[in-house]
Amino acid sequence: MIILGIESSCDECAAAVVEEGKTILSNHIATQIAEHAPFNGVVPEMASRLHTQWISGVVRRALEDSGKSLDDLDGVAVAARPGLMGSLLVGVSFAKALAWGRDLPLIGVDHVKAHLYAPRFMGEIKYPFLGLLVSGGHTMIAQVNSFDDFTVLGTTIDDACGEAFDKVAKFYDLGYPGGVAIEKLARGGDPRAFHFPKPRLKQGRRKYDVSYSGLKTAVVNQRLQFKKEGAVDSLENLAASFQRTAVDILIGQLIAASADTGITRIVAGGGVAANSYLREQLTERKEWETWYPPLNLCTDNGAMIAGIGYHYLQRGDRSPLSLNASARVDAFKGFIQKSPAAPRKGCS
Ligand code: KG4
Ligand code: ZN
Repeated sequence: MIILGIESSCDECAAAVVEEGKTILSNHIATQIAEHAPFNGVVPEMASRLHTQWISGVVRRALEDSGKSLDDLDGVAVAARPGLMGSLLVGVSFAKALAWGRDLPLIGVDHVKAHLYAPRFMGEIKYPFLGLLVSGGHTMIAQVNSFDDFTVLGTTIDDACGEAFDKVAKFYDLGYPGGVAIEKLARGGDPRAFHFPKPRLKQGRRKYDVSYSGLKTAVVNQRLQFKKEGAVDSLENLAASFQRTAVDILIGQLIAASADTGITRIVAGGGVAANSYLREQLTERKEWETWYPPLNLCTDNGAMIAGIGYHYLQRGDRSPLSLNASARVDAFKGFIQKSPAAPRKGCS
């Protein structure tokens, strides 16, 4: 089966063609980073407008690169949630029009689940595993029992991990996207120069929840300290210490979740999974079998959407043409309709 995957949930306009859920025939990503960089963050209205301008070209390019034509497709998968509403709607509308026009099955997929599918392009990963999803919008530790069966063990109770990288970078004017800028700066710094606090979460929440707002505030307040002392300490040290603490928070919760569940297979996905310090910390633990995607599949891409879409389609699921985008985080409930196929006239 050959699936076209479309991704437009945030600032990457992306499309890919994937065969049998594992062979990437093409993976075209048009990033809007340069457009949003002057604002140090994603401007939602601008993101939607750019998706509108770019989507046809991006899909055409993905098809061309794959050597396939629309006639070869067996389905169209699209990231339908969560994300920026305006941005999601562009991909969803495009996918719906294409599916309807070509009489192809439509599969609306959850972007968060798709991020944890991306490492599967590296090889066959057995279930269950502990999934670590770390992106700009979400942070989650889950027991993953199948491609879409997730038991959530912990999430962030405030900022997402990538969001903390982005906000710290923005505050210190380090560059955009924040995670990339901080990792680069951190290479020249001492990760033990500053001792930033790790969260102590109260009981009653999920056992493996994390929190990033305290760390973010501590790093931001450090600037006042610099000013008081009349010295600007090295930003490299600050970046390295922040990065170490941010990653250690995740590793600490993963160690606990692994000990409690007995699961030693760890799979990371999402933009922050591109971070080399996080990768080092994961692979250093020899008792773990660790998987993460190559760099171009960590951040948003169409291949992970097509890949997971294949499994839904193979199971006989498809979305109705009334599929809507949703900004909500709903990685944990299915929203794909079971077959029989949706009626073609449901798209009003
Ligand atoms: O998965 P993604 O492309 O988009 C969302 O679904 O949010 O992740 C983007 C996030 C941003 O917060 C960005 O700063 C972070 O991933 N990021 C990184 C790195 N590369 C991207 N964070 C830490 N280290 C990196 N190398
Ligand atoms: Zn993402």
